[in-house]
Amino acid sequence: MTQDELKAAVADAAIKEIEPWLDKGTVLGIGTGSTANLFIDRLKLLRDSFKGAVASSQASAERLKALGIDVLELNSVGTLPFYIDGADEVNADLQMIKGGGAALTREKIVAACAQRFICIADDSKYVARLGEFPLPIEVIPMARSYVGRELVKLGAEPVYRQGVLTDNGNQIIDCYDFNIKDPLELEARLNAIAGVVTNGLFAARGADVLLLGKGDGVERTA
Ligand code: A5P
Repeated sequence: MTQDELKAAVADAAIKEIEPWLDKGTVLGIGTGSTANLFIDRLKLLRDSFKGAVASSQASAERLKALGIDVLELNSVGTLPFYIDGADEVNADLQMIKGGGAALTREKIVAACAQRFICIADDSKYVARLGEFPLPIEVIPMARSYVGRELVKLGAEPVYRQGVLTDNGNQIIDCYDFNIKDPLELEARLNAIAGVVTNGLFAARGADVLLLGKGDGVERTA
């Protein structure tokens, strides 16, 4: 199976996972990226079975609206039963690196409001230790150089993602060569640097369910 076929298989599996729980009042949290897009496309067939969605990015919001799915403001909704999103890396503890698509801050917010985070990914994303994928950090623009210097002190090689502005008007630093022994500890430590808006470690709030696309089918871990 190709990577795209694996992504399609996990998008199908996520639909099966949530479908029994949908009702006319259900609002879904929806992630960002190519795997999340495949999931969004499949939601079209179910659009009369739920109320709407909160999107973690402008791009996902536009895609949902184009399919006739209502996009709601998170502040008007509160708790969401599910958040469905991809990942750049995921480990056996269902901790993740996210933010390859620069949507990490809104992803973390919507995930925080969800009762269940369903991570959908092809098996190229599954790693024994997080950190080979460069860890994205969203920063307030005026703090970029300062944050970069602090990241060097922590052992990373920070690279400014040129030409990218997040949906929140901020910038992204990608951290190469981080030796991530303790994702929880590093997530908290990065959050403590002035000027950091969000880091792409999803450890304190990892996934509850991982649907991993493999050659021999979709493996479910919860
Ligand atoms: C977006 O900022 C990311 O967190 C995505 O969820 C992640 O990059 C996965 O994207 P793909 O599904 O395109 O691999």
